[in-house]
Amino acid sequence: MSNPFYLQEVPVDAPFCNREKELKELQSYAEGGANVVLFSPRRYGKTSLVKRIQKKLADKGAVTIFADFFSVASVDDVAMRLAKAVFAVTHSKDPLWKKALKTIRSFRPVLKPDLGGGISLSVEPSSAGRSGLILLEETMDSVADFINTIHCSVHIALDEFQEIVILKESLQVEAAMRTRVQQKQASYFFIGSRRRILLGIFNERQRPFFQSAINYPLKTLPVDELVEFIAEQFTKNKRKCNQDIARQLVSLVGCHPYYSQKVAFFVYELSGKVTVEAIRQGIEKLILSEKPVFEATLQPLSPHQRLLLQALAKEPTQKLLASDYIRNHRLGSVGGVQHSARLVADLDLIEKDEETGSWRVVDPVFAMWLRKQTEERV
Ligand SMILES: Nc1ncnc2c1ncn2[C@@H]1O[C@H](COP(=O)(O)OP(=O)(O)O)[C@@H](O)[C@H]1O
Ligand SMILES: [Mg+2]
Repeated sequence: MSNPFYLQEVPVDAPFCNREKELKELQSYAEGGANVVLFSPRRYGKTSLVKRIQKKLADKGAVTIFADFFSVASVDDVAMRLAKAVFAVTHSKDPLWKKALKTIRSFRPVLKPDLGGGISLSVEPSSAGRSGLILLEETMDSVADFINTIHCSVHIALDEFQEIVILKESLQVEAAMRTRVQQKQASYFFIGSRRRILLGIFNERQRPFFQSAINYPLKTLPVDELVEFIAEQFTKNKRKCNQDIARQLVSLVGCHPYYSQKVAFFVYELSGKVTVEAIRQGIEKLILSEKPVFEATLQPLSPHQRLLLQALAKEPTQKLLASDYIRNHRLGSVGGVQHSARLVADLDLIEKDEETGSWRVVDPVFAMWLRKQTEERV
């Protein structure tokens, strides 16, 4: 029996926990031609969910374009990723491919054999002269022409969309994209993990995208469904796991979709039966495996921002600016805390819980790791 849990992206046909309501609602928004902003902390399952929705839409005949803007480096890069996404989805699907070749004027596809025996696709600009906003506008207009010629419904997912704000021309990029999105030829999903930045694009009055899409938050997985899912994957794959022990596992990682899968993966590798001790070891392995990510997260932060993270990992608080809290955690001045909190919240590392009003570290395993930094086992 092979391990049923995933460390990497879950394929669209792999077991998936719940999200039935979200799948249904989001699919109906897409089919209705609506635009949606889908947001949550990282690794809650946004990308996996959208890929599943796009699969369902594609099965019903829609063309589904998926572009990832993660660490986008320039306006040309935004344009390139859009064009590449169109070529990627139409590749080897005549007559769509021919229509893409004809209508996407700003870039041409480059196909090469890759090391794995498949074919890799990249794009290069058709004319060396054009760049920046003109190139992006031309590409978006090309995509519009493509959509007009194919006569089927189109869904466009732009993952990690908030990354465009780091470009110095970001407001013009937003304006150029908004004008074209407004033409309503396709349903757009704007997806992102840095929630304050992403929501700023859509909910600030002076921004081009103001109120142009439905805000759709994605939460952690519901506890009962997740417990059942984890227990079922273990038992189906010849490991004893009762509901109580599965509940312990998921509650330790706050029903986090990715961490639940990952701890379960380690536990599966460790023993024939899921025990408290195996879960403890699984969590240790999880923290160890995430260490490079956490170190890289801390690396660009100032000492004061790190201090603030450590304070919130140890003691979430409703009163971040209270003098007691600042004194107890040696955080300096109110102004300093305000400044650091804003920057760290923009990175989506801390958040104010809507229900309790309490400030906390967003990622539960990052918080565990931060707490461990200040403790030593003796
Ligand atoms: N509903 C789910 N059922 C099972 N595993 C899930 C589910 N949602 C997310 N995951 C796990 O979390 C991982 C991260 O999901 P991903 O879609 O990349 O998150 P995001 O795009 O929000 O960062 C997936 O690879 C998978 O292991
Ligand atoms: Mg994602």
